[in-house]
Amino acid sequence: MKFGGISTRSVWREPDRWSVGILDQTLLPWRIARLKLRNDADAAHAIASMQTRGAPLIGAVAAYGLAMALRADSSDENLHRAYAKLLAARPTAINLKWALDEISAVVRHLPASQRAEAAYHRADAICDEDVAINTAIGQHGKRLIEAVAARKQPGEPVNILTHCNAGWLATVDLGTATAPIYLAHDAGIAVHVFVDETRPRNQGASLTAFELGQHGVPHTVIADNAGGHLMRHGRIDMVIVGSDRTTGRGDVCNKIGTYLKALAAFDNGVPFYVGLPSPTIDFSSDDGVADIPIEERSGAEVSTVTGRTEAGGVGIVTVVPDGTPVENPAFDVTPARLVTGLITERGVLAASREALEAAFPDHPSLRRPPEAAA
Ligand code: MRU
Repeated sequence: MKFGGISTRSVWREPDRWSVGILDQTLLPWRIARLKLRNDADAAHAIASMQTRGAPLIGAVAAYGLAMALRADSSDENLHRAYAKLLAARPTAINLKWALDEISAVVRHLPASQRAEAAYHRADAICDEDVAINTAIGQHGKRLIEAVAARKQPGEPVNILTHCNAGWLATVDLGTATAPIYLAHDAGIAVHVFVDETRPRNQGASLTAFELGQHGVPHTVIADNAGGHLMRHGRIDMVIVGSDRTTGRGDVCNKIGTYLKALAAFDNGVPFYVGLPSPTIDFSSDDGVADIPIEERSGAEVSTVTGRTEAGGVGIVTVVPDGTPVENPAFDVTPARLVTGLITERGVLAASREALEAAFPDHPSLRRPPEAAA
């Protein structure tokens, strides 16, 4: 993705080839700061503190975290310790576990002397695969945008609403929900994005607006509560969001507030799509509400707002009376019945078990553990 006009990824290997670079997303868009992660503890901290975030990206950073741990000590004990530490960093996005399992599967049966190199190699491949997957999501999703554009007057934009940041900054590159938007824009299709601010952390206002702006995609930030109103007035042509975990039956867990947008879209006949890379699918879960652990984050994210001060620094202000109780569930689940389509790397699918299993019969979470096999 273009960043200051230069193509950049959200995670990279540093010139020493063993430490890992990320952008500190807690400071965006006000400051552009790069961070160097030197071990699995750094990686786990960056994920837990949301210096790095977004389901696919935390998977990629965790993969490198495990590689850095094996570089320091390639024993089974250290593999298990680092795996558990990284897995505990955030509970909801299944990409984290998927990526750690991918690394573990590669190194488990190797001699200790070969483990670190093999882990870095697989982590690099996870990053490259993420970009390839998102490119395919973009191509399939672009066709949906093209179909809407064909019904518009020449030059009239396709208006797309998105929630949170399922963009370049949430993945290695291109994004999931944003990939169709970037590809459509680059192909000369007029698009305009309504960006939900996404309280409490404002990933839409801070991150999605930042990256759309860097790429020159027309956009408008709206308060989270404005989406339903805009839909009732015919100003949204489609919704595209990302996912942190999608169950075998097609329930979509994503940033808190997504469900309300899906309800409003359903009521107004606005198509509701989910950009979905296959590592986000979890066939071992079925009912999203019952089966997916929802991260509870600090109440301070609700009781305060972070932004640029008039003096140009980054400041935090409190927006509730002192001592007010607050609650901060970070994700919600949109039932499959409200989802128009899942835009995956293998095409746009119905949000159903039949469609997901038919498209991804080789998915790792479909494999039964040996003891469960007949
Ligand atoms: O808590 P975050 O900022 O990590 O949540 C991110 C989201 O909810 C994204 O929409 C999701 O990870 C999809 S990312 C392509």
